[in-house]
Amino acid sequence: MAFIGLALGPLVLLSMASPASSCNKQEKASLRFLAGISQDNGLTTLWQNDTDCCEWEGITCSRDGVVVEVSLASRGLEGCISRSLGDLRNLQSLNLSHNSFAGRFPSELLASSSIVVLDVSFNHLSGALQPQESYSSVPHYSRLQVLNISSNLFTGELPSAAWEKTSNLVVLNASNNNFQGLMPSSFCINSSSFAVLDLTHNKFSGSIPVGLGKCSALRVLMAGHNSLSGPLTDELFNASSLEYLSFPSSGLHGVLDGARIMNLRNLSHLDLGGNMLIGEIPDSISQLKRLKELRLYHNHMSGELPSALSNCTDLETIDLKFNMFSGELSMFNFSNLINLKKLDLMGNNFTGTIPESIYSCRNLTALRLSGNNLHGQLSVRIGELKFLAFISLSFNKFTNITNSLQILKNSSTLTTLIIGNNFKGEAMPEDETIDGFQNLQVLFISGCSLSGKIPLWISKLKKLKVLQLQENQLNGPLPAWIKSLESLCHCPIWTYQTTDSQGGSQQP
Ligand SMILES: *[C@@H]1O[C@H](CO)[C@@H](O)[C@H](O)[C@H]1NC(C)=O
Ligand SMILES: *[C@@H]1O[C@H](CO)[C@@H](O)[C@H](O)[C@H]1NC(C)=O
Ligand SMILES: *[C@@H]1O[C@H](CO)[C@@H](O)[C@H](O)[C@H]1NC(C)=O
Ligand SMILES: *[C@@H]1O[C@H](CO)[C@@H](O)[C@H](O)[C@H]1NC(C)=O
Ligand SMILES: *[C@@H]1O[C@H](CO)[C@@H](O)[C@H](O)[C@H]1NC(C)=O
Ligand SMILES: *[C@@H]1O[C@H](CO)[C@@H](O)[C@H](O)[C@H]1NC(C)=O
Ligand SMILES: *[C@@H]1O[C@H](CO)[C@@H](O)[C@H](O)[C@H]1NC(C)=O
Ligand SMILES: *[C@@H]1O[C@H](CO)[C@@H](O)[C@H](O)[C@H]1NC(C)=O
Ligand SMILES: *[C@@H]1O[C@H](CO)[C@@H](O)[C@H](O)[C@H]1NC(C)=O
Ligand SMILES: *[C@@H]1O[C@H](CO)[C@@H](O)[C@H](O)[C@H]1NC(C)=O
Ligand SMILES: *[C@@H]1O[C@H](CO)[C@@H](O)[C@H](O)[C@H]1NC(C)=O
Ligand SMILES: *[C@@H]1O[C@H](CO)[C@@H](O)[C@H](O)[C@H]1NC(C)=O
Repeated sequence: MAFIGLALGPLVLLSMASPASSCNKQEKASLRFLAGISQDNGLTTLWQNDTDCCEWEGITCSRDGVVVEVSLASRGLEGCISRSLGDLRNLQSLNLSHNSFAGRFPSELLASSSIVVLDVSFNHLSGALQPQESYSSVPHYSRLQVLNISSNLFTGELPSAAWEKTSNLVVLNASNNNFQGLMPSSFCINSSSFAVLDLTHNKFSGSIPVGLGKCSALRVLMAGHNSLSGPLTDELFNASSLEYLSFPSSGLHGVLDGARIMNLRNLSHLDLGGNMLIGEIPDSISQLKRLKELRLYHNHMSGELPSALSNCTDLETIDLKFNMFSGELSMFNFSNLINLKKLDLMGNNFTGTIPESIYSCRNLTALRLSGNNLHGQLSVRIGELKFLAFISLSFNKFTNITNSLQILKNSSTLTTLIIGNNFKGEAMPEDETIDGFQNLQVLFISGCSLSGKIPLWISKLKKLKVLQLQENQLNGPLPAWIKSLESLCHCPIWTYQTTDSQGGSQQP
């Protein structure tokens, strides 16, 4: 994800580093352990004892020869992080990400009064981040702005009290760990510039904590895949600078309150999928002019697609699958949503035909309308969607399979076509005029009670990996040419399920 450039003033110093003066013995000794733990002794050869440590690869000194930056990401380092690094009194930036460090994270480093940026992400660090009592030794002034401890094995709590001293904190990424207890929330009491909090994939419990609403600079709040519960609090909607609000699979309930959601005018990404939300999409969603992604999948929401949604013209992704939305789909005017790339309405109760206005969304790549109550024939205008790669229409009441295939065959970008459980009792088109589908990899036409035999045109789909034709009434022998489809997986049926780019299981 491309996140937000941060202006980190103090680090400008680093670029003024010069080798004019050399590091002292004590600094050398503090760093020395790193050479000893590098796989293949990579650093041992690079860091010669008799050279100035300001010249060592990965080390940067200030003009007056003190170590200010240690940048050793992806160096194959393993073992423990020594507390000796805490002796580097002028260290501003420590980057040890993407190594194999294990064991505890020395509290001396968090307590440092010089470090501005600390990145130990992608290691195997474990244990509680720091025993509670050592926080009391944190000096009153901490310069820490960026703390990235994501993708480790940390456990224990992240108590709110721990953040009282970090009054300059801007970013905390603690995602992909095993933290538990309540979500920390009091960052903004002491740090008015706090902007990014990522707690995704941990074991936090309890409800969304009070306090976050006071974070007037908070732009990114991500806490999905935890064990939270409770309502979508008002609180959340007071953080009016939010751009990313992401709480998927978090056990939240309640409604998307129209009066509150419109406080978040800068919102570009809203992901509340996999919760227990009820109610409708409020009309005030039209106030979110920058909304790019709207993900409310797997909830219990209902009502029609509000016409107000068509005012969110920046929308690229609408994912509302598996809710109880209903109404005539063609009542919604998609014409304004010219940036739409993905529309997923699977598993709702929309009725009517595919709206003509959808063909104005020229950049659409994925369209999934399966599992609704739609009927009618496919329009030739679907050919206007020049980037369409995925289309799933199964489990509706569409008719005329011959027409559908004749139209879709010209779609050269199409890789996945899922149209089963429609066209009840029609005949499988056998004619050889169905040529095209140059890039088709997945074809599901099951559950249609189609008569006829396995048609020859399928033999020309050289890229076909998955073919499902079961639950039809096709007869005749399995054609010999099936063997010539070299890409077809010779694997059990359950591995045929591919996943779409949202990571969700691709269900017809
Ligand atoms: C470098 O110095 C340390 C401490 O003085 C010593 O233990 C180590 O053996 C020396 N390494 C080399 C390669 O000389
Ligand atoms: C740490 O280094 C890695 C690899 O170069 C880089 O991707 C990452 O952005 C750095 N961290 C910070 C906080 O700059
Ligand atoms: C850790 O987070 C910081 C702040 O978001 C970011 O700049 C850095 O690139 C991240 N590190 C890695 C290895 O992605
Ligand atoms: C936090 O770190 C993870 C990797 O561990 C990364 O995927 C994610 O994008 C980061 N979050 C933010 C808000 O930058
Ligand atoms: C942090 O905020 C609390 C409560 O407002 C205050 O008592 C404390 O002095 C602050 N700490 C620092 C270091 O600013
Ligand atoms: C949210 O903001 C409103 C109006 O600015 C204020 O009345 C309310 O007390 C705030 N709620 C919380 C929980 O901070
Ligand atoms: C929304 O973003 C604009 C610029 O992108 C900024 O000027 C404005 O202050 C932001 N609004 C809030 C409430 O943060
Ligand atoms: C949507 O935009 C149009 C034109 O800008 C405006 O007339 C209409 O009131 C808006 N609808 C909503 C619900 O905001
Ligand atoms: C849909 O919206 C477009 C653009 O605003 C407009 O030109 C068109 O007439 C509308 N279609 C319907 C059926 O209302
Ligand atoms: C569609 O995508 C192309 C390139 O991917 C882009 O240049 C164009 O602006 C997009 N059109 C719209 C209407 O978003
Ligand atoms: C779907 O809508 C139809 C007609 O609008 C209705 O009769 C039916 O009960 C609805 N089904 C569900 C599962 O809500
Ligand atoms: C089905 O589509 C074919 C080809 O587009 C067309 O010739 C035929 O009339 C259609 N059948 C019905 C019943 O609409």
